[in-house]
Order: sequence, then C-alpha cells, then structure tokens
Amino acid sequence: MLPRAAIGGSAPRDKPSGGGCALTVNDVLTVHGGTPLHGRIRVRGAKNLVSKAMVAALLGDAPSRLYDVPRIRDVEVVRGLLELHGVRVTDGTEDGELVFDPANVESATTDEINVHAGSSRIPILLCGPLLHRLGHAFIPDLGGCHIGPRPIDFHIQALRQFGAVVDKGPDGMHLTAPTGLHGTKLELPYPSVGATEQVLLTAVMAEGVTELRNAAVEPEIIDLICVLQKMGAIIKVHTDRVIEIQGVPRLGGYTHRPIPDRIEAASWAAAALATGGDIEVLGAEQVDMMTFLNVFRSVGGAYEVTDMRPPRNGSPGQEGKIRFWHPGDELKAVALETDVHPGFMTDWQQPLVVALTQARGLSIVHETVYEQRLGYTQALNSMGATIQVYRDCLGGTPCRFGRRDFKHSAVIAGPSKLHAADLVIPDLRAGFSHLIAALAAEGTSRVYGVDLIDRGYEDFEAKLAALGAHAERA
Ligand code: EPZ
Repeated sequence: MLPRAAIGGSAPRDKPSGGGCALTVNDVLTVHGGTPLHGRIRVRGAKNLVSKAMVAALLGDAPSRLYDVPRIRDVEVVRGLLELHGVRVTDGTEDGELVFDPANVESATTDEINVHAGSSRIPILLCGPLLHRLGHAFIPDLGGCHIGPRPIDFHIQALRQFGAVVDKGPDGMHLTAPTGLHGTKLELPYPSVGATEQVLLTAVMAEGVTELRNAAVEPEIIDLICVLQKMGAIIKVHTDRVIEIQGVPRLGGYTHRPIPDRIEAASWAAAALATGGDIEVLGAEQVDMMTFLNVFRSVGGAYEVTDMRPPRNGSPGQEGKIRFWHPGDELKAVALETDVHPGFMTDWQQPLVVALTQARGLSIVHETVYEQRLGYTQALNSMGATIQVYRDCLGGTPCRFGRRDFKHSAVIAGPSKLHAADLVIPDLRAGFSHLIAALAAEGTSRVYGVDLIDRGYEDFEAKLAALGAHAERA
C-alpha cells in the first residue's frame, strides 16, 4: 500500500533511480512508537572512513587488511568497484575483516562500471588511484543523498591541477594523465571532505610535493592519512588546515582498525534522548564526539564515558563505550550551527532535531554545510512538531547560503507531543531521524524507504529489536 501522504519525500518508486538514496515500494517498516529504547548496541568502523580506506588499497602493490568493516551498502558498492578493477577482495578470519589484494589491477569497461552509477559518491575518489595504476579512469554518474546540488567542481579543478585531463560525457567522466600526475599547490574554496580525500589519494603517488590549503581535517580524514602513512606515504598536517604531501613512487599495503562511526553513535544517542530511553553504545569514543557531547549535555541529556582499556598483566581488557540517557528532567532548548570539524557535524543535525522537538523553548539550528538539509522537518511537523525554516542565517556567523536564498535555518518550538504518521525517507540521516520520530511518537507509523538506512547503519533492525523497539517490516 502506498503512503496516505508522501511526507518528507516523493512517492515510492518500484525501482531505484537517481542515486543511492532512491526508494522501493516494499521497504516499509511499521513502527509502534512510544516505548523508550533501552539496551546496548555496538558501532563498528566509520562508514566515511572505511569506504575511503578501501579505495586507498588500490594504490598499494601489496595486500591490505581492514578490520571492523560494517555490513552496509556503501561498502558493497566500493567492494564491487574494486573487484571490477581486478582487486581480489576476501573476508578475513575476524568478523568484519576484509583483505584486498591489488596485485592484478586491470581496466573495466564503462558498461561494467555503469552498473554502479548512482549508487554512491565514493566512485569519484577512484580517480587518482586509477590514474596512478592504469593511466586512465572512468567514473560513473554519482549517487549519494539528495541534500543539495552536491557539485564536484573542487574535485575536477584539483585533478586538472595534478595534470589529469578530465572529459565529462553523458555517461560519466573519462580521465587520462598523458604526462603523469605532478604535485601542485591548491587551496580549496571550502574545506570539503571529499575534495581533501581526492587530493590525498592523488598526491601520495604524484611526482613532487603537494600543498593543500583550507583542507578538511575531520577525524575520518586524519584516519585516512594514518592508512596512507602505513602504506608508505609522507603526509604532514600543519596548523591552519594546511596539508603537505611528498609524493612517493610506490606504496605497500596496510593493516588498519578504523575509528568508530561517530555519526551512528550520535544517532543512537539522539534516539535515547527523544524516546526517554537509555542506550549504551559500545565502541563509541569520546575524542571524536566532543562537540556532540557538549550539545547533548546542554540539551539536558546525560552520558557516561568508559574508556577502552587494553588487556594488561593478565587482566582482561575493556571495550570503550558511551552510555547516553534521558535523566527524566525537562529538556532545554539550544542554539547550534553545523560546521566543518571541529564544529557540530551536519550529519548529527537531523537525529538531534527530533530530540529538540521535546525540549522546552525555542531551539535554533543553522545548517552551514549543506544548503538543503532541512526538508525533512516537514515530516516532523506532520507528526505534531513545530518547526519553521528560514532563509536567513540564524546563527552567529553569516554562511554561504544566506546570500543564496536557501532555507537553511530552523527554529524548533517545543515541547511537542509527536503522533504517528506515514513517512517517506528522503535521505540517509533524515531517514534515521524519521525513524527516531516514529519511535518517539504515540501510535503506529509506517516508514517507507527504510532500505536507504542500510546504506549507513549496519543491522539497524536487529539493533532496534535489541533496544526493545516494536517495529516490523511491512
Ligand atoms: C562527506 O560528504 C560525507 N560523505 C557526508 O556524509 C558529510 O555530510 C560531509 O562529508 C560533510 O561532513 C562521505 O564521506 C561519503 P563535502 P562530501 O565535500 O565529501 C561543497 C553521510 O550521510 N562542495 O565536505 O560529499 C558541498 O556542496 C554523508 O554519511 C562543493 O561546492 O561533502 C557542500 O556544501 C552525507 N564542490 C560542502 O562543500 C565540491 O566539489 C561540503 O561537502 C565539493 C563539495
């Protein structure tokens, strides 16, 4: 059955189209809300590092080993692309361990590669590694979440500066490097995560030195630098967002255990707060979540950090974890702006806003990373929330979007009693916020398009069950 109202997205389609965030008609979750989530779940390696580390394996001339890889769709897409290019990918002995053998990297046809068109944004990061290994690359149309135009101009500009010839065709992007790739000086107009990764993955084996200014320095990027360094790269991270890369002629393999997924950890924390629950997130680490933790506490949430302890002198080690809970007091309104690291992550925004609908007073959220990342608030309003979106910059600092007339600030008036609704998931993080809202609301909601959540949240249905949620397919 189709939703009574296609709230928060277009009506379901019968097959994916237009990207990794498309819908199918059968992926419906029926959620009986109103039960606080209680229990313990585990997060694994960060989606936004794991997929990049997999691409890095292509650069090596020896096998690489990555631990703690979550079973999510983005990983499957990158695995498929690597295998198409001759990388042998096998499961290791530990659960979540993948081994990549790049001994026989080879060309794939555009038809083969196009099978992955629209499935993820990661393929753009294959440009540098494929140019180094094969001298040419074909990148299909990208996918990823529909959270604004998501241009790739910084990527193309950077690749051209390295010496790549980029031809944009109707089917995708063809690249060659007739005179090789050479180190260069670059300054990003904005500290883009993807463009910084593009530069790193290209510069490590380009001839000479590359200096990147205004680089992104998210923890996932620092972890990617650790991966590349293990492979033999020489990368210096200076102050003021400057990264210097000394190109080397060859790289080896790596063995790496990624940083935990701080977006998933924060999503479960927000779910605990919004449902009045108590969730222990095994694997979560404080250091990469400091900004989130400050806001969580300001809203009135409680948390307790347990540090990881390695086994020592015969005593067993202990896994790191953070327990998040609603202490029972009234939640407080806050003002926050999303920003690049070390600011409040744009991907933390949507789950937290659901909790903010339960806070007393007016909360203000200024989204400064993506211009169209507040559309999902319509769905929350249909459930009883009171959220107004504005074109003005309602934060302390004017951002790029105020001048360009985008609705990128929100005022959330609370507390609001949420009631059940039929919802259509528009993108990954907004999708998780829909799910939290359905769990927090009284009554039975139907959430359409939940397969999208598989892109970035491993086993989320099993985790919901472990937390005592009442939810079932269809
Ligand atoms: C990464 O996207 C993440 N995705 C996003 O997470 C995350 O929200 C984002 O970084 C910001 O932290 C992955 O790592 C796979 P950007 P990315 O380049 O690299 C503009 C999720 O759900 N820009 O930092 O694509 C862009 O439009 C996803 O896990 C250009 O203008 O983000 C945006 O306004 C969603 N031209 C800003 O920069 C370009 O060529 C930041 O984007 C590139 C970016």
